[in-house]
Amino acid sequence: MTFDFDTVIDRAASDSRKWRKYAGRDILPLWIADMDFAASPAITAALHRRVDQGVFGYGAAMPSLTQTVVDYCASHYSWKIDSAWIVWLPGLVTGLNLAAGAFGEKGDAVITATPIYPPFMSAPNNMGRETIAVPLVPRADGRYEFDWPAMERAVTPRTKVFFLCSPHNPVGRVFTRAELEQIAAFCERHNLVLVSDDIHCDLILDGLPHIPIASLSAAVAARTITLLAPSKTYNIPGLACSLAIISDAKIRQSFVRAMAGIVPEMNVLGYAACEAAFRDSEPWRQALLAYLRGNRDFIAAFLKDNLPAIKLTPCEATYLAWLDVSALKLDNPGLFFESHGVGLADGAQYGAPAGKFVRLNFGCPRATLTEALARMKRAVAAR
Ligand SMILES: Cc1ncc(COP(=O)(O)O)c(C=O)c1O
Repeated sequence: MTFDFDTVIDRAASDSRKWRKYAGRDILPLWIADMDFAASPAITAALHRRVDQGVFGYGAAMPSLTQTVVDYCASHYSWKIDSAWIVWLPGLVTGLNLAAGAFGEKGDAVITATPIYPPFMSAPNNMGRETIAVPLVPRADGRYEFDWPAMERAVTPRTKVFFLCSPHNPVGRVFTRAELEQIAAFCERHNLVLVSDDIHCDLILDGLPHIPIASLSAAVAARTITLLAPSKTYNIPGLACSLAIISDAKIRQSFVRAMAGIVPEMNVLGYAACEAAFRDSEPWRQALLAYLRGNRDFIAAFLKDNLPAIKLTPCEATYLAWLDVSALKLDNPGLFFESHGVGLADGAQYGAPAGKFVRLNFGCPRATLTEALARMKRAVAAR
């Protein structure tokens, strides 16, 4: 079966947050992380079947869904999980906030590394915790890695939680087993609960394996909360269906206690879509990955030939390109490109130094990407 990622679907007049931001303005939105592609036919069919039943009462995960998640973890990551470890969540930002507040006390700290998806920095503060943000460092080849001496200097006795993004948004890294072992050892040494947000783990572009950090050993699993969702890969974030996998009963209890009375019921359409995503959408995902690889390589070639001042950080995973625009010497690169018709996310939002980075979402038809890059070229030329 072939899948169509080339057709431009007009979302401008729809309920899309990505497109509504620029309603009535000629700005191509390449900011928030959803893709301009239709979901897999399997997902759409499952939703039709669920809608046709016609009753939308409170939901519960069906055993077939739970088994699908267990099977998916086994087949995709060789990770054996127990269905009792699964905690359903309407979103992973919710999961980050719950995890920040469930361990330690107000005034304690959560450590993470920047640049990073902004809720990693705001969730601890929402919960009365300090955020300790340690910059990642680029290696000579542009790939970012943890700065362990700096992490050791920054961690305090009041640090209770480590927030990991694996693979990493926005720098696109897929961490190696050796790197994950270093992270786990750091958490062990400082007795931290390790929250691993693996939402992008099925978007690895070059065939590197995804290793859930909890799968390293029973000891690592015993301090880890893994956050997973079909939402990024299968492009269904508007259906609000995510999960935490927590093997340790005490950590799971603390997490579930933090949810009480606050986290709303799950969306039954989200459950239906999740099952179809994880069970029936692998051919679509493979076709998507090929398309995204093409988009990433297209950006790399375009920048090299037309905008050599902009550097693409090696993008091993995600559909998010982390672009170093520091050579352009702009105060606010996000606003600059927006004023030239391209809506990117400014790097400062991710805790990167101001004026140096933008994040470009290439989860869109090649035609949209081509037009956005042409606009960026004109913008830089007109500077
Ligand atoms: C690392 C990461 N975690 C969580 C989310 C959002 O998750 P949700 O929509 O389930 O709250 C995103 C969205 O881009 C993300 O990149």
